Amino acid sequence: MVIMDDKKFWKGRWRGSFILTPNPFAKRAYVLMKKKHVKRVLDLGCGDGRDSIYFARKGVAVEAFDFSESGIESLKKKNPSIKAHIGDIRKLPFKKNSFDAVYAHLSLHYFSDSETEKIFSKLHAVLKKGGLLFVKCKSTDDLLFGKGKKVAENTYRSGHVRHFFTKDYMAKQLNTFKVLRLKKNSSSYASSKSSFIEAIAQK
Ligand SMILES: C[S@@+](CC[C@H](N)C(=O)[O-])C[C@H]1O[C@@H](n2cnc3c(N)ncnc32)[C@H](O)[C@@H]1O
Repeated sequence: MVIMDDKKFWKGRWRGSFILTPNPFAKRAYVLMKKKHVKRVLDLGCGDGRDSIYFARKGVAVEAFDFSESGIESLKKKNPSIKAHIGDIRKLPFKKNSFDAVYAHLSLHYFSDSETEKIFSKLHAVLKKGGLLFVKCKSTDDLLFGKGKKVAENTYRSGHVRHFFTKDYMAKQLNTFKVLRLKKNSSSYASSKSSFIEAIAQK
């Protein structure tokens, strides 16, 4: 589903980004991370690393992962000590039981059904027992839903491909986890009103 054009789009997307303010989801996630004494976190699809930097500032050992070179470069400029990986979410190089938490903010709504299922199953594997998954994806209530060319169910290409989630679809991906929170919400993202499905789940 993510084709070469999408990779090109993200490759340069974060050039010159100096944003340090974390996304609100990172702040909400950290409240539970702190309570559960989370030590090692994977920030999946970290973009320019604003949330990785926030977690690191809180004393969490965070590893950042993205296929966007400009994203990883921007992160490295802001905090060279964060361990950062350039790679594809569909080919995660991590061993089983590696992380106390995986945090994926708007990075898992780009894939086909079969890719999405494989990714969530891999995330289950890389988490330690009791580990937490924080995930937020665009929902079918989003203003961009239905815009552009339909390429699969709930999936449209407009600039790049987006696979919009429903609550049921998220629940299905989490069927091997214990779901702690699953909700729809709306907020402003990249200066426009957006709608999301947000979940917290435990292995
Ligand atoms: C909307 S941005 C979110 C960035 C960051 N999590 C944030 O919220 O600020 C989506 C990110 O997912 C990354 N991404 C998309 N598809 C990917 C893939 N197949 N492998 C690795 N990263 C990918 C993009 O490069 C981009 O940085």
